[in-house]
Amino acid sequence: MIRSLVLLLCGLCCVRSLVRIPLTKAPSLRSHLRAKNQLEDFLKDHQVDAFSRRYAQCYPSALLSLKSGKTAERLYNFMDAQYFGQISLGTPAQNFTVVFDTGSADLWVPSTYCVSPACASHHKFKAIESSTYIHDGRIFGIHYGSGHLLGVLAKDMLKVGSVTVQNQEFGESVYEPGMSFVMTKFDGILGLSYPALAEEHGAPVFDNMIKQNLVEKPIFSFFLNIGPEKEGELLLGGVDEDLFVPPINWVPVTVKGYWQIKMDVLKVQGTSAFCHGDTSSCQAIVDTGTSLIAGPTMDILILQQLIGATPTPAGEFLVDCSRIKSLPVISFVLNGVEYSLPGESYIRKDVVGDRVLCLTGFVAVDIVSPKGPLWILGDVFLSQVYSIYDRGQDRVGFAQLKVPSIA
Ligand SMILES: *[C@@H]1O[C@H](CO)[C@@H](O)[C@H](O)[C@H]1NC(C)=O
Repeated sequence: MIRSLVLLLCGLCCVRSLVRIPLTKAPSLRSHLRAKNQLEDFLKDHQVDAFSRRYAQCYPSALLSLKSGKTAERLYNFMDAQYFGQISLGTPAQNFTVVFDTGSADLWVPSTYCVSPACASHHKFKAIESSTYIHDGRIFGIHYGSGHLLGVLAKDMLKVGSVTVQNQEFGESVYEPGMSFVMTKFDGILGLSYPALAEEHGAPVFDNMIKQNLVEKPIFSFFLNIGPEKEGELLLGGVDEDLFVPPINWVPVTVKGYWQIKMDVLKVQGTSAFCHGDTSSCQAIVDTGTSLIAGPTMDILILQQLIGATPTPAGEFLVDCSRIKSLPVISFVLNGVEYSLPGESYIRKDVVGDRVLCLTGFVAVDIVSPKGPLWILGDVFLSQVYSIYDRGQDRVGFAQLKVPSIA
C-alpha cells in the first residue's frame, strides 16, 4: 500500500518534471520580404557581416572586445526562423515569443528602453514592473550583420512551460540594428547550446534548469512538424515516446559548443558526394535556429548543380516545381545510419503574387571554425526526425517520427 503510494507520488513528480512547450510555425521573414518584393534590397543592405569585418577598426574599442563572428551569422539566419514558443520573465510574468535555438547559448529579449525600430514592433521587458528583477548593469553585445545588438545584463525569474528558473541571467537589448528584426514574429532568442558559446556571463537556461533540479533528465527533445496538425513541440527533461519510433541513433558530440557531431557522408541519389574519405570527414551542427540545411559554399554550389537548381539574384536556388518528384534523394549518414530526404522534403514552396516558387532547402554558409568547415542541419532536416539533445552523456539522438511528415 505504502509502496504503491510512493510509486504513485514518484510518478506524479516525474510527470511534472517533463515540460512540454508547444511550438508554432509562422512564415519566415525571408518569405515575408519576398512576398513584398523586398528580399533583394534587404540582402544588399545586410551583407552577412562583410561590413563589420571590413570596418571593424572603426567601432569603439569597447565593442571590439565582444566576441565576434560565430553569433553574427547565426542571427542573420534567424530571418528564416519559423518555429517559436512562449516564455515569461519577471513577477508578474511578462510574456515573450522566442526562438528555441540549439545553435546559441544566450537568452535575450528587447528592453523597454530600446528605441530601435525593431523593438517598436515587439514585446519589451519592463524591469521596473518586476519585483524579482535583479540589476546587473554589465553590457552585452552580439555582433550582428551590419551592426551590433547591444544590451544590458539582468537576472530575473524565467518561466518556460510549467518550470520556473530562479535568477536566470538574460540580456535586455537596448539597441537592435538594421531592419532585420523589425518584421520577425519573435521577440528574442532562447539559446540551448553548450555554455561555451555564451556571450553573456551567467549560466544558460538549460544549465540552470539542471542545476536547480527542475528537469527529470538533462535532456531535451524537439519535434518540428511541417504538416498542418501539430506544429511542433519542445520537451524539456526527456523524450516524448508518443512522437517517435525506437531505436534512437545516438551520435556523440565532438565539440561541446554547438551541438556538433561528425557527419559520415552526404550522398546524392545513393552515391557518396561529400564528406567521404578519411581526410575530408565533415562536422555538422544540429541547429533548430536555422531553417535550412547549410554547408560550405563550394560543396553547396556543387550540390545545387547535382539537383539541377538555378541561382537567383538573392542567392537562392530554384527548381521547376514539376520536377519535385524526380529530384535526386539527398542522404545524410550519421553514426552509420542513413537519413534520406526526397525532393518533397527539401524543396520549399513560396508564393509571390500568383507565382509559386520552388526553392531548394540548401544554402551556402561558411562558418569559420578551427574545426570547420561545418554543415548545419537545420529545420529542413530536423523536421524529418525526432531529435534529442543529451547534456548528461553529450550526444544527439535521432529517431524516426511516428507519423512521417511530408510538406
Ligand atoms: C501570458 O501568457 C499566459 C499563458 O499563455 C497567459 O495566461 C497570460 O494572460 C499572458 N499574460 C499577459 C500579460 O499577456
